[in-house]
Amino acid sequence: MSEEVLTITDVGKSFGAVTALRDVNLSVRAGEIVALLGDNGAGKSTLMNIICGSHAADVGSVKVKGESLSSLADARHLGVGVVYQDLALAPDLSVTENLFLGNELVHRFGPFAFVDRPRMRREATRAIEHLGISTLRDVRLPVVSLSGGQRQVLAVARAMKWAKHIILLDEPTAALGPKQVGIVLDSIKRAADQGLGVVLVSHDIPSVLKLADRVVVLRHGTIAADLPPAGLTVSEVVTVMVGED
Ligand SMILES: Nc1ncnc2c1ncn2[C@@H]1O[C@H](COP(=O)(O)OP(=O)(O)OP(=O)(O)O)[C@@H](O)[C@H]1O
Ligand SMILES: [Mg+2]
Repeated sequence: MSEEVLTITDVGKSFGAVTALRDVNLSVRAGEIVALLGDNGAGKSTLMNIICGSHAADVGSVKVKGESLSSLADARHLGVGVVYQDLALAPDLSVTENLFLGNELVHRFGPFAFVDRPRMRREATRAIEHLGISTLRDVRLPVVSLSGGQRQVLAVARAMKWAKHIILLDEPTAALGPKQVGIVLDSIKRAADQGLGVVLVSHDIPSVLKLADRVVVLRHGTIAADLPPAGLTVSEVVTVMVGED
């Protein structure tokens, strides 16, 4: 079996009177695609936000390759790439600037340091082309001028570019056309084949059952099922999600 890259132990999180997560235990191995399913409000985004260090858990721990993760800086250092449900793009910055946000390429020349914009633009163009967005022609455009689907592809490209051990995707295909859905799902598969652990939140259950190695269902903030997808039907998954017999 491959190495465990993500270990979540006894995680709990409340927002005031709302218990968003309780006693969550989950591990993900290198090369494994774990689909995280659940009804609206089940706690999926809260868990993703804790794994990438943007929210702190009230109790419990998150470890990446055995090292504790409790901040965005930890997540970056430990090679966690993330596509947030709200995408977390800076609307006034360009496609290139968003792709490299916090990871700008610097060219050194003696005592001087320059941001290497031409190289960043070339790499941005390549990353976007790779994901099949032929309608997005200029990586100098500000994000505010992009369509919803183009923004989503940019967020996926950014996560793919910087992820080293884990990639987290919260509804990465929600706004995409069928061709782009196929391309994003293929890139997720490729990332896993290259040895990344993947946690994918999606309401597209048929696609998830085809892609994932494990299906984890959250219900009211606790893990209701952790199953291999073979033989599972969409209606069985929905039954576990909503908790009816
Ligand atoms: N910042 C917050 N402040 C207060 N309550 C929150 C906050 N974030 C999440 N919650 C609550 O925590 C619970 C879980 O929310 P979460 O966003 O994790 O659900 P989800 O499974 O991602 O749902 P969806 O499928 O709609 O995206 C919900 O009851 C939600 O109202
Ligand atoms: Mg969510």
